[in-house]
Amino acid sequence: MATHFSQERLRVRPSSREDAVVASAREKFERTLVSVQGSLVGSVAALEHPRSHDALNYGEVFLRDNVPVMIHLLLEGRFDIVRHFLSVCLDLQSSTYQTRGVFPTSFIEENGRLLADYGQRSIGRITSVDASLWWPILCWAYVKRSQDWEFGASQKVQRGVQLLLDLVMHPTFEGTPVLFVPDCSFMIDRPMDVWGAPLEVEVLLFGCLRSCGHLMEIAKRDRSSRLLEQRLELTRQWIHDLRSFLLKHYWVTSKTMQVLRRRPTEQYGDHQQENEFNVQPQVIPDWLQDWLEDRGGYLIGNIRTGRPDFRFYSLGNSLACLFGLLAAPQQRALFRLVLHNRSHLMAQMPMRICHPPMEAAEWMNKTGSDPKNWPWSYHNGGHWPCLLWSFGGAILQHEQRHPQADVLLMGQAKAMLEECYWSQLNQLPRQQWAEYFDGPTGTWVGQQSRTYQTWTIVGFLLLHHLLRVNPADVSVLSLDGPP
Ligand code: GLC
Repeated sequence: MATHFSQERLRVRPSSREDAVVASAREKFERTLVSVQGSLVGSVAALEHPRSHDALNYGEVFLRDNVPVMIHLLLEGRFDIVRHFLSVCLDLQSSTYQTRGVFPTSFIEENGRLLADYGQRSIGRITSVDASLWWPILCWAYVKRSQDWEFGASQKVQRGVQLLLDLVMHPTFEGTPVLFVPDCSFMIDRPMDVWGAPLEVEVLLFGCLRSCGHLMEIAKRDRSSRLLEQRLELTRQWIHDLRSFLLKHYWVTSKTMQVLRRRPTEQYGDHQQENEFNVQPQVIPDWLQDWLEDRGGYLIGNIRTGRPDFRFYSLGNSLACLFGLLAAPQQRALFRLVLHNRSHLMAQMPMRICHPPMEAAEWMNKTGSDPKNWPWSYHNGGHWPCLLWSFGGAILQHEQRHPQADVLLMGQAKAMLEECYWSQLNQLPRQQWAEYFDGPTGTWVGQQSRTYQTWTIVGFLLLHHLLRVNPADVSVLSLDGPP
């Protein structure tokens, strides 16, 4: 009851300050939009720091940073910008043999020429995988929301989808449904020991395959072929196998851990399938027991032979809810876990990107002594305001789909979300919409943080929309199929 009361109070709080912050965020957001070939195409990663001339590549249009931008534009009905963005990305999809099908990490128009970065210009020369996986997800969100079925079924889109599927669904040495990637291949784009099958990439792969499947369904209505049928069949199977794999090897609760800790090791042959990755009980970290408490659950960061990554990654877990990878009871176990660990994950600035950070020798060895990723900073336990909308979206989507389920828990989750929103609303304008904040409490602006970071601004606007304007709009990312 107490929860409901405080929720009501929050809802009727005088809103003039809220309105002012939203208006100023909107004004800043408009300034992040840039054009390609004469039309608006999306946002640069950050508005230049007033006192800094060292903008690096933050002045480019990053695909991943534009995810919340495109969703925001879809909700505003500004479909032409989203369509242009999708189309420019397609024009830039790589056609060289070794990277065929890859979408760029970022692009920009300079002196009338379109320049794209596929990793060859970035610090450390890293290739993003997430950008390519996000493209079909955004494309499907656009097609569904705008009802532009024609674009979805067009040769241009369908060709892009097939090129991408060639890239992600191919035989491998592993023979598992996961995509193997190097370190730094997604939002965490500096060494953080996230090579192999990191959660975020695998969840995005799930979303990507589902979206590609829907786009192929649209094309099938116009012109079916045996090839298309086969591709659809293979995609469906892959989605199914991937989901089973992730739920089996990544999902942990206190109950599953008690079984895992007592499994036999060094199993050979195909009859005993209890410990396929030969995980020794000694690698299970101490903090996990309290972290999971009785009824919490989450997807761990990675599974690799002998060396699973038990760290908690906020984005992968939130997207697993939104994309329907986690079943409803698992989603609730995740919300319970976040509530239980709220002082870590939310603290002063929601929400922490990855928990716990690597410290001392581990930080030296695994990050290569990266000064930006020192313990409690940036990707290594820092707090990123741009992550809150996806977690909030997961709560709101769950509430809509299962209004009767565990009302007490969901009330607490909603109250937490409201408070997180208010703490962003109160702090972000003063902190110049910073990119990230340093832990453990997330109080201080990140040591090397950019200011006026686009996904901080637009992430806040998105959450505002979902909480205040129309919660039902969370369906924009639900990945439901064509009507
Ligand atoms: C940093 C972040 C990356 C982001 C980019 C642009 O490199 O690690 O996730 O896409 O900045 O904002």
